[in-house]
Amino acid sequence: MINKNKYEAAWRCPSNIALVKYWGKKGKQLPANASLSFTLADLYTETKLTCASEEPGNIQVFLDGARQISFEPKIREFLARIDDLLPWLKDYSLTIHTSNNFPHSSGIASSASGLGALALCLAEIHASLSNQSPDVQFASELARLGSGSACRSINGTAAMWGEHPDFHGSSDRYAISVDHLLHPEFQGWMDAVMLVETGSKSVSSTQGHALLQEHPYAKSRFQEANRNMSRLKHVLQQGDIQAFADLVESEALQLHAMMMCSSPSYMLMQPETLRIIKEVRAFREQSGIPVVFTLDAGANVHVLFPGQHRIHLGETLFPMLAEACEGGKYICSTIGPGVKRLT
Ligand code: DP6
Repeated sequence: MINKNKYEAAWRCPSNIALVKYWGKKGKQLPANASLSFTLADLYTETKLTCASEEPGNIQVFLDGARQISFEPKIREFLARIDDLLPWLKDYSLTIHTSNNFPHSSGIASSASGLGALALCLAEIHASLSNQSPDVQFASELARLGSGSACRSINGTAAMWGEHPDFHGSSDRYAISVDHLLHPEFQGWMDAVMLVETGSKSVSSTQGHALLQEHPYAKSRFQEANRNMSRLKHVLQQGDIQAFADLVESEALQLHAMMMCSSPSYMLMQPETLRIIKEVRAFREQSGIPVVFTLDAGANVHVLFPGQHRIHLGETLFPMLAEACEGGKYICSTIGPGVKRLT
């Protein structure tokens, strides 16, 4: 806070990759099923928000210092969704300076980290205006109203979102950390993101979620996802890596199967996606090293692995997989918490 006419906050927020997928919504940006993700500490957005009492309602967004008029409608839509939670917002203008530490054209979604960082800034300013201490849960709720998956980026190494009987304190409104469930086997895991396609996607996640409304398999998918949450809880607690691989890979393929039988149907996997998936499975079989693939709503493949194998995989599996990537590129991140208040 600077003075009562101007407030500033700056936060870093990481991206995340879901193990059980959020795919389908109900009500106001609430999930049709519970989901659980690992936080990608090294792939993050940094955002500085300035709220000033001059020109209320004015919004300016800058990416790496350059004005992005095309981002503003999405931000306005987000602000409209949260105006009942932040009634003071309408009396201020907003200037948002943001940057990602991963390349814009990497095909890595910046909505989770981007809306997460903005939500953290808004939650901090809200706390100073109302003389409260900043609240992680509130920041996660704001982030969810921007982009569902963003609410899972705010809290911990592993976060779950969506009310579920097996997860104490779970809520459809915000995500909670489930770090306490992680068996030591999962300490120090990493994610190598194989960049198969770096342009923008033909069908956005938001459009994809909407297709679940009339989807013939939606109901069974939501039930299966919630069952997978119970299974995943057990697997994470037991440190059962084989069961982890089976479950996480099945979730990724179910997500894409849902896309393929939506109406209209669509496909985001590319031939290279399948090539990488097959190579990951064959390598795991032959080497006994637990490399596990998952997918988000795109062609890129996330390869999860225990960090102690990083050098070996960097000399064996990854160069082979990179042959199927655009420009031979992939990006590695540690799995861990990554939210940081910036000064
Ligand atoms: C496939 O959070 O991007 O990555 O709420 O409309 O912004 P909106 O959708 P978004 O959906 C992400 C879907 C997913 C799976 C997941 O992260 O759980």
